[in-house]
Amino acid sequence: MSTSFGVVLLGTGSSLPTRSLRNSDFPASLDTSDEWIRSRTGIQERRIATPSETSGSLALTAAHRALEAAQLHPADVDMIICATVTPDMMVPSNACFIQRGLGCRPIPAFDVNAACTGFLYALTIAAQFIRTGSCRRILVIGTETLSRIVDFSDRTTCVLFGDGAGAVVIGASDGQGRGQHWFRLYSDGSRGDYIRYNGVRLRAPASTSADPRASDQFDFLRMNGREVFKFAVRTIIELIGEILAECNLTPADINLVIPHQVNQRIIDAAFADLSFPTDKLMVNLDRYGNTSAASIPIALDEAMRTGRATAGDRVLLIAFGGGLTWAGGVWTI
Ligand code: ACO
Repeated sequence: MSTSFGVVLLGTGSSLPTRSLRNSDFPASLDTSDEWIRSRTGIQERRIATPSETSGSLALTAAHRALEAAQLHPADVDMIICATVTPDMMVPSNACFIQRGLGCRPIPAFDVNAACTGFLYALTIAAQFIRTGSCRRILVIGTETLSRIVDFSDRTTCVLFGDGAGAVVIGASDGQGRGQHWFRLYSDGSRGDYIRYNGVRLRAPASTSADPRASDQFDFLRMNGREVFKFAVRTIIELIGEILAECNLTPADINLVIPHQVNQRIIDAAFADLSFPTDKLMVNLDRYGNTSAASIPIALDEAMRTGRATAGDRVLLIAFGGGLTWAGGVWTI
């Protein structure tokens, strides 16, 4: 007989580089200004990894903190899933680096790439393993060093992003009430060109018969800002409508909304159409910029540690990003 377990949040952690890059720190040659960046994005500063920090090392610190908050040890972890588009290297994965760094048993560990939606993809995959009873406790991490893939001479992208990592431990529970209640994951590859990062190109251009390994080219992250803006606003509005309808909830039933920390103007434009009081929105992008897969777990950890989210609160998580991908979830803490 199959058993279905509840899935609860056991602990959160995060790690941000200490080095801060304020809007006024961008060089004059970039031809931007604090006023432009603040008014178009809400971002005031972002954290930038030092040469010795990587998405793996930030993730490892966040993972230690999440385990500490959950009062668990590395030996208690049954699986590690790491969401990132900026792993330290392609092989081994960041998740394997974290497994080694924590000193866990030989357990499943793998990375997930769904761009800014990656953490919610990873969290949802993890929840399935808990629900079926295959695992008791899973570490889920979102981590990025976007400063390593943005073009610091392109003012349309480099002002938007920051580095950091967030982690959660989820576990099985037989109790009712708390935990994950709803989730949805989506993608639409036909709009993949809106946000693109080739990294090292492993596939030769179709027009040549050259050895693929000879065609390696590095390119920076590129984005169609206007299309991303429209996609993001529409997605927030539609996803929240879907969540409320399917869960039979009203905004009054939600204690906190944690959207992907993309841009204040996107969040304002979307929530202007939704009847959520702004004090139910968790926003920290003014301090950290857009940290892609790390943005939601960093904000969730901050909400937990500052008391914005407490036991029993119903929290709505929404993310969207490259792919295109988007996802939503409802959890009771
Ligand atoms: N400083 C000064 N001027 C700038 C800057 C800058 N940092 N960036 C762009 N501009 C200029 C442009 O060059 C353009 O100048 P021009 O008229 O002389 O050509 C002018 O500002 C207007 O450019 P737009 O692209 O129309 O500016 P817009 O008001 O759309 O704002 C922005 C650009 C902030 C990127 C906006 O499109 C946006 O928020 N898009 C969403 C993108 C985003 O946040 N992506 C995050 C990654 S994806 C994700 O996480 C889902």
